[in-house]
Amino acid sequence: MRIELEVNGELVAADVWPGESLLYALRERIGLPGSKNACEQGECGSCSVLLDGTLACSCLVLAAQADGHSVVTVEGLAGGEELHPVQRAFVEEGAVQCGFCTPGLVVAAADLLARSPDPGDDEIREALAGNLCRCTGYGRILAAVRSAANGS
Ligand code: FES
Ligand code: FES
Repeated sequence: MRIELEVNGELVAADVWPGESLLYALRERIGLPGSKNACEQGECGSCSVLLDGTLACSCLVLAAQADGHSVVTVEGLAGGEELHPVQRAFVEEGAVQCGFCTPGLVVAAADLLARSPDPGDDEIREALAGNLCRCTGYGRILAAVRSAANGS
């Protein structure tokens, strides 16, 4: 079946199998491999995107369900060559190790800061609770989100 959706501000069409996930379509049909496939069960958050402005695990959404809707992936956060403040903070704070969790965390953190520009630690932890990282111990990730919130 053919779907049409807005991805990172551009209208995109793709031929998909009715049972395939939005994550698969983004990565394999639309050429955006930033969203990662770590569990495919809604457990890790590595596939997080904004679907009509709401944080969602793209592995749990059928591509067909996204027909006519708007998706923002980690690739869509940067403004051209300019990194999103959360992306820059992850780099500067050393919040990236293997990087598999990073795209989902960046999308979730950007979503948090869009809703709550100066979150407390508990709010940050709660917002990122659906995003698992097996490498960092989360300390540098929290520091990065704080840093992005502070604009430093
Ligand atoms: S790949 Fe979607 S939540 Fe893990
Ligand atoms: S940096 Fe490796 S899973 Fe988070």
